[in-house]
Amino acid sequence: MIRICFVCLGNICRSPTAEGVMQALVDRDKVGDRITLDSAGTGDWHVGEPPDARASAAAKQHGYRLTGQAQTFTKKHFDKYDYVIAMDQSNRDDLLELAPSSEAKAKVHLLRDFDPLSGKGAEVPDPYFGGEDGFERVLDICTAGCEGLLAHLRESHQL
Ligand code: 4NP
Repeated sequence: MIRICFVCLGNICRSPTAEGVMQALVDRDKVGDRITLDSAGTGDWHVGEPPDARASAAAKQHGYRLTGQAQTFTKKHFDKYDYVIAMDQSNRDDLLELAPSSEAKAKVHLLRDFDPLSGKGAEVPDPYFGGEDGFERVLDICTAGCEGLLAHLRESHQL
């Protein structure tokens, strides 16, 4: 089983969106027996909350369903996942600081680095303090990133 955790700051906007989009791709390609998905935040302000209503509404319009309750990513989570996918460079830096070993550090990637059309180091912008269009943009970016991630998994794990 390939275990993936998407990570943002609050675990209520970007990482649940990436998880919901990726789940739809996994279902579409019938690889759910090989891949499990989760999401978490580097911050703890929203622990236990469902995804942000604006993120859920945008996702629903595109046929995706966001699930789960916010949790904080902690050091022990590095044992639980094979891929730890950060939404922006700040999330990635926080995860690298938290990582207890070089093996753990090697699990950390930026989502958009899997998108062949985005430049290296590109970020999923934080939509929390902005308008509705920010959530649409996050969806488009996550869709491209997750397609790229799935293509990478196909190549690396013989899916
Ligand atoms: P997310 O968005 O990291 O995409 O879930 C945010 C959610 C909450 C906050 C910041 C970003 N906050 O400051 O509470």
